[in-house]
Amino acid sequence: MRRALVAGNWKMNGRVAQNDELVTTVLAGLEQQALTERVDVMVFPPSIYITQVEAAVRESDLSVGAQNLCEFGDGAYTGELSAGMLADVGCSAVLIGHSERRAMFGDREQRVAAKVKAALSAGLTPVLCLGESLEQRDAGETLAVVSGQFRSAVAGLELSEIVQLVLAYEPVWAIGTGRTATPEQAQEVHAHLRVLLAEQGQNVADVVRVLYGGSVNADNAAALFAQQDIDGGLIGGASLKAKDFLAICHAA
Ligand code: G3H
Repeated sequence: MRRALVAGNWKMNGRVAQNDELVTTVLAGLEQQALTERVDVMVFPPSIYITQVEAAVRESDLSVGAQNLCEFGDGAYTGELSAGMLADVGCSAVLIGHSERRAMFGDREQRVAAKVKAALSAGLTPVLCLGESLEQRDAGETLAVVSGQFRSAVAGLELSEIVQLVLAYEPVWAIGTGRTATPEQAQEVHAHLRVLLAEQGQNVADVVRVLYGGSVNADNAAALFAQQDIDGGLIGGASLKAKDFLAICHAA
C-alpha cells in the first residue's frame, strides 16, 4: 500500500517573515490533526530559504525539498546548486522536470535525466514532473507525451533507482490556471503511468507514488485523491495558504 504524499511547491514566492508564519501554522495544523500519521508532507521553498525552513521543521515530520538542482557535481558552475549541497542542508527530495523549468529554463529530456541521476547519487528523492500542453492534449498526444518523458528520464537507471522516484503528473494547461483536470482525466493518465512503471517491474508499480498537480485546491483535492492511481498532490498556489494546504493534506 502506498502512503499518500502532499508536496507544496512554493515556486518563486516567500519572504523570511512570511515563510516563518506559513511553516509555523502548517506545523501546528499537522500536529493538531495528527496528519503525518497517515500522510507524508513536504514543502519545496525557494533555495535561498531552504535552511530557514529546514531549521523550523527539523524536529517535525514535515520534510523539505528543493525546486531544482544542477546536473553536475560541485565545481565551476556559477549560480548553480549541486545535489550534494541540497542533501547537506537537509533536503530529502528535489523537483525535476517541472513544466516551468522545461518551458522557460531549458530543462529538456537529456538534462532532466541527468538531474534525476544526480539527485539519486546524493540520496535525494527525485520528484519527476511530467505532463502535456493543451495543444498536445487536443491533438490526442497526452499518453505518448508522458510516455516519452517517463522513458527518457528512467532510461539509464537501475530498478533499485527507479523505485526511489516519485512521479508528478501535471498537465501544463492546469498549472496555475484554475482549470483542474477532472478526476477521470487525471486517473486516465495516472493509470497509464502505472502501466509504464509496471513495464519496469510490478514492484515498481506497487511502490512508486504518482502525484497529481495543477490547480489542486481545498475543494477539489478529495475527488482527485479518491482515484485509484492518484497517491497525493503537488500543490502550487494553494500551498502558500496554510489553511488550504492543511485541508489538502487532510483530503489525502
Ligand atoms: O508544482 C506545482 C504545480 O505546478 C501546480 O501549481 O497548484 O498553482 O496550479 P498550481
